[in-house]
Amino acid sequence: MARIALASSASYVDDSELDLLRRAVGNLGHDVTVEVWDDDAVDWHDFALTVIRTTWDYTDHHDEFLAWTRRVPRLRNRSDVIAWNTHKTYLRDLARLGCPVIPTAWDVTDQDTLAKHAEAWGVDADATEWVVKPAVSAGSRDTARWTDTDDALTHSRALVESGRTAMLQPYVDSVDAHGETAVLFVGGELSHAVVKGAMLAPGEGIRDDRDSREKITPTTASDAQVDVARRALRAAGEALGGGLDLLYARVDLVAGPDGAPQVIELELTEPSLFLPYVDGAAERFASAVTSAVNSLGRV
Ligand SMILES: Nc1ncnc2c1ncn2[C@@H]1O[C@H](COP(=O)(O)OP(=O)(O)O)[C@@H](O)[C@H]1O
Ligand SMILES: [Mg+2]
Repeated sequence: MARIALASSASYVDDSELDLLRRAVGNLGHDVTVEVWDDDAVDWHDFALTVIRTTWDYTDHHDEFLAWTRRVPRLRNRSDVIAWNTHKTYLRDLARLGCPVIPTAWDVTDQDTLAKHAEAWGVDADATEWVVKPAVSAGSRDTARWTDTDDALTHSRALVESGRTAMLQPYVDSVDAHGETAVLFVGGELSHAVVKGAMLAPGEGIRDDRDSREKITPTTASDAQVDVARRALRAAGEALGGGLDLLYARVDLVAGPDGAPQVIELELTEPSLFLPYVDGAAERFASAVTSAVNSLGRV
């Protein structure tokens, strides 16, 4: 028996996946509690393992959150992983290390630069839709799909002017028909996969809510999807110097123009793991928790 903390945030302590996980870990004999990451009354040294879960308010407190991850002993995923993974510039590392990712431009604020990127990506700037989003974000917050390049640039400029890093991508059309596929790894092993429906509707402007319209369907990831997902994890290991000891990982993939999978997001921080949708997934996660506790040494 070990004391395990599932780290949450004040607004997200009530969550069905968190409940399921707490029960599954508890069923293995551990003393598991949900703790709020920025609650000063919690002594994180008391826990044999702290697992980051529904800390979804961190995007408004990024520095404070990273400082917290450095203070918590026996944290999964580890603080160096979190520092790298909470800023989507990690996509550059993945691309540099040979993993296919959605074409992305950073801090674009003028038409000429946008036109140059469009040309390099082989897309027609007037016919394509665009996605603009901040590099530190979760749950589609401050994210929008634009038809007009002026609107996309206005959004991107506003992010840059408020001191954030802005991302600009062509809207990947296949998402409307086929959604994105999330490939889940638990304790380093492939566990399960789901399809998530499209999140961004044309003409709706900038989104502020969290995953409220996610439509989730369990699926079996194709060999090509598993291959790209594994490449993303290998690249993460290379970028960070190896031995990441990931308790959980989610690789979100979309089908690019030629149908081949591209990474839209690598989630090593606080992903929904879609445990309630797949039989046995919560139990697999619970046994990976036990293995992590055993390898870290009990307190
Ligand atoms: N380039 C894109 N093409 C199509 N859909 C996109 C694109 N970028 C984002 N989206 C949609 O917006 C959602 C949120 O974007 P994402 O990059 O996953 O950031 P986060 O989940 O961290 O907010 C995705 O789940 C997807 O539905
Ligand atoms: Mg996402």
